[in-house]
Amino acid sequence: MTPATPSAAREPTQEGVPILLTGQALRSLRDSGYSLPTALAEVIDNSLEAKANKIIVRIDADALTDDVARIAVIDDGAGMTPDILQRYLQIGFSTRYMRTEGIGKYGVGAKLAALNFATKISVWSRASASESWQAVSFDLEDAIAVEAATGKFPLLGTPKASLPPKRYNDFLPGGAGTVVVWSKIDRLERGRFAATADSLVVELQQELSRIFREFLNAGIDITVNNTSLLPHDPLFLMRGTWAEGILAKQPGHKPGDHFPATVIADEPVSVGLGTARLRVTLYPPEVTRKRFQGGDKVAMLMRVPANEGMISFVRMNREIAYTIVPKMMPSGIKASDRFIGIELSFDARFDSFFGVRNVKRGVEPSGVLRDRVRELLKRYIPTARRMLDERWGQVAKKDKEHDGEHRAIMEAIRSVEQIMPKSKADPRPKDEIDAKLWELAGDVGHESDEQRAQYVEKVRELPFILESVDYPGKQFVDITHLSSQVLVQLNTRHRFYKEIWAPLTEIADANPSEVSGEDAVRTARRAIEGLTLMVAAYGKAQSMEQDPSKFDGLTSDWGKFLDTLMDKVRDVK
Ligand SMILES: Nc1ncnc2c1ncn2[C@@H]1O[C@H](COP(=O)(O)OP(=O)(O)O)[C@@H](O)[C@H]1O
Ligand SMILES: [Mg+2]
Repeated sequence: MTPATPSAAREPTQEGVPILLTGQALRSLRDSGYSLPTALAEVIDNSLEAKANKIIVRIDADALTDDVARIAVIDDGAGMTPDILQRYLQIGFSTRYMRTEGIGKYGVGAKLAALNFATKISVWSRASASESWQAVSFDLEDAIAVEAATGKFPLLGTPKASLPPKRYNDFLPGGAGTVVVWSKIDRLERGRFAATADSLVVELQQELSRIFREFLNAGIDITVNNTSLLPHDPLFLMRGTWAEGILAKQPGHKPGDHFPATVIADEPVSVGLGTARLRVTLYPPEVTRKRFQGGDKVAMLMRVPANEGMISFVRMNREIAYTIVPKMMPSGIKASDRFIGIELSFDARFDSFFGVRNVKRGVEPSGVLRDRVRELLKRYIPTARRMLDERWGQVAKKDKEHDGEHRAIMEAIRSVEQIMPKSKADPRPKDEIDAKLWELAGDVGHESDEQRAQYVEKVRELPFILESVDYPGKQFVDITHLSSQVLVQLNTRHRFYKEIWAPLTEIADANPSEVSGEDAVRTARRAIEGLTLMVAAYGKAQSMEQDPSKFDGLTSDWGKFLDTLMDKVRDVK
């Protein structure tokens, strides 16, 4: 099978050896690290560079095994003259070798991508309607068998007149165009990359709609198994995208509505003698919605969770990587970063700075570039995060402004009060109590005198008044004793409120299907930490007194009342 492999016993040959063991080298080159979407993107690149308007991808699964059996890419581009077609399969051949004004330049993409998944490549092409279709093909295993038998790797023959396979008749261009077919596919069996051939197709559609978003947005048609792709823009700036289609189906929206992101940054980034472009966006309110909805069904459909921490690298208008770059996000990636779009676009002149590889997959920004981008993100990401926090805070405010947040519990405590000992605190004059309640009515957001009076009326008889209010300072609770009433105010500006109370309240109020397990678990973990720390801080605060034993009664009463209240008050919301 492998005649050219030297055995240990042989002497070096005087006449020398060829640098390439063709068959074996080709087999090794099959592992170029392409995913199916990035491999097919190489073929689509070629169609786009041939100025195709319509590109049709067909993935056929074997009826029996459901394994992908055949993949075709059909375009209505310029096509190839027979001399170019003959060399299409030649590794290293390119009609744009090392040029920097287009997408392809290495002359390896079309071949390596195909060999990554298939062992047979067939190509039909014609350069005008008046010409007949010409075809070439290459079968790796057949060629290796010939090499084994003859000691020579077969040459690529001249193109032969031949019609593309009948199964593609409905998709052929009327004039010039090219049909590339991968067959003898041996690396796409069911279960390797996706559970079924169908799910592989869905993933392919998702990836291609992002990779080629600029072309799709400009009106190029890419169709994958009958689905004409809509652009997916991780910046959420384009119109008529896949995500806008999802939003259009939400209540209150209609088809054609545009929901643009907020542009946080659009900055030139100097690399070498030229510039790349960095854009940072915050997704629109229709997408960010309320805190904790970032993992629900609508968010998933819009591919929001997949965007967390991702940077999209776009070269010559074609995305070559959508990836997390380690240590890029200031103070690490946060779950809410899924609502931040980050894109770095550049042209082929800067390939070396972005570490672009011959397989056009992945990037490795040079040290200088990485530092520069990190510096910029340090400025813009916190801005985006802050805007989002404010927006979510406002949504929560608009929803209820803390009004009545604790009402149900206050009512429930009222009935328990009868069995608890009465207050020993000194009674306060009625005027003072009235004034305090009036002030409180304002603090919780009641503006008109009428509203204030109504509020005071409602709370006057409650044994406990519990309200969340906004006040400066590090104090978390403010307790006032109004004769028999205890007024407890929670500071909504305190970290404990912001990081525990508010998120838990939002989860508690949400529809269970809208809360992602991930969000719930993260909030629960923070809540445990917070509760533990609250008790620890209470202990620490006691130690600020020379004789902390004077708090013993307080601590024991606190535990006792907590027990009674928790026993009697439950599931009140
Ligand atoms: N769909 C196509 N239409 C027209 N010409 C094509 C097409 N695909 C490939 N070619 C030709 O084949 C050559 C080799 O393609 P490829 O291996 O992808 O290298 P590259 O794109 O780097 O030039 C291209 O330079 C181009 O001339
Ligand atoms: Mg190419």
